[in-house]
Amino acid sequence: MSRNSLTVIDNRTGTSYELPIEQGTVKAMDLRRIKVDEGDFGLMSYDPGLTNTAAAKSAITYIDGDQGILRYRGYPIEQLAAHSTYLETAYLVIFGELPTPGQLAKWERSVGRHTMLHTNIQHLIETFRYNAHPMSVFISATASLSTLYPDARNIADPANRILQVERMVAKAATIAAFTYRHNQGWPCNFPDDGLTFIGNFLKMMFRMTEVHYQPNPVLERALNILFILHADHEQNCGTNAMRVIGSSQADPYSALAGAAAALYGPLHGAANEAVLRMLEQIGTPANVPAFLKRVKSGEGERLMGFGHRVYKNYDPRCRIIKRTAEEVFQVTARNPLLDVALELERIALQDDYFISRKLYPNVDFYSGLIYRAMNLPASMFTVMFAVPRTVGWVAHWLELVADPEQKISRPRQIYTGAEPRECRPAGLRGGTN
Ligand code: CMC
Repeated sequence: MSRNSLTVIDNRTGTSYELPIEQGTVKAMDLRRIKVDEGDFGLMSYDPGLTNTAAAKSAITYIDGDQGILRYRGYPIEQLAAHSTYLETAYLVIFGELPTPGQLAKWERSVGRHTMLHTNIQHLIETFRYNAHPMSVFISATASLSTLYPDARNIADPANRILQVERMVAKAATIAAFTYRHNQGWPCNFPDDGLTFIGNFLKMMFRMTEVHYQPNPVLERALNILFILHADHEQNCGTNAMRVIGSSQADPYSALAGAAAALYGPLHGAANEAVLRMLEQIGTPANVPAFLKRVKSGEGERLMGFGHRVYKNYDPRCRIIKRTAEEVFQVTARNPLLDVALELERIALQDDYFISRKLYPNVDFYSGLIYRAMNLPASMFTVMFAVPRTVGWVAHWLELVADPEQKISRPRQIYTGAEPRECRPAGLRGGTN
């Protein structure tokens, strides 16, 4: 009769231990029972980058990286992209169910109301130099929201948590738009409740002198799709940062700023910016083979927008974005860099280096081409990722705060430093200089 457990024999002592297996995991704390003697601390697991450690139980997003499957709350990402709007998907990710018409109308009203931004934050954004990286501005502005909403520290009150969540989802868009306007040297456009959330976002970003700005429906739909696809991706680096900071019971705006800071790295959300710079550097499809040769030689360059910690198959978001890019190019000029991207993908997917390492295009490979078609500078691309990912961050924060098994995040280390030694006064330490 098989048991749902793991038997471990410690060869140092010959002692055998039985560790329960639950949901395909053993508890790291069970390893601590394995000791050479009573004074021994017990075994730990060593996992830099947490590559094989489940740090949370989560009901939000399911990924099967081998099959290339992504679902929010059980719904396939392809169906949400086809049939849903960004705010509807946001509701699903945050509250667990797709909203009824009444719930959706209420949610849209609440979020819409919170898109207003205190002028202090607008002034703060305007104090940064014109050429400050938009992600640095976005991170600073989201962190500073906690100065305006000290009530956010009361994380024990569920109704108060939802209020902060509505504020964060709404204000992330306004902060992004104001950041962009400042970066371009243009005055800010204030939120307009007469438009959809995405329509309003487009207006805050792009309205110039038009009295009645009307968002282009193709671009509005494309942005809905991009935002749906970016809304959550379970325990990625940014979400992990949100959870780690949230676990200390810091206010959610501070945690949000930390999550955005994690997203800013080129191995994470700034890969979309790096992809565009890489495509520009390659220039034409004819230069692709030489570029890939350099990547394969391991001389430091990576094929940005390729590879993923979890997906060992085509990223399902990439397939949808590639299709959406073609639709966007029907109303904007076709970006010739698309041909460079297509050629990179075509050659890489036939090349043993990428096949053997299971490196496929990820979400960042084509998204920048759409943002570029909207005339956005590459430095804005990660901000365009952070706005919808705010939904995932706040959903995970809500889940964390209500989870009785969660504790303050505090990993162990393997100490590799000096043995105990004596600190002597400077004059007695020796040395000639
Ligand atoms: N180009 C060339 N080689 C690569 C790439 C790449 N993009 N990605 C991984 N490899 C190689 C890597 O050199 C290593 O080879 P070897 O076994 O010979 O040393 C092998 O594949 C495994 O790579 P790894 O770095 O151990 O894999 P990881 O799971 O730690 O890293 C990753 C995942 C996404 C950081 C990495 O694939 C990467 O740097 N990709 C480019 C940046 C990128 O597109 N990031 C966006 C990720 S998706 C959106 C998001 O999460 O924000």
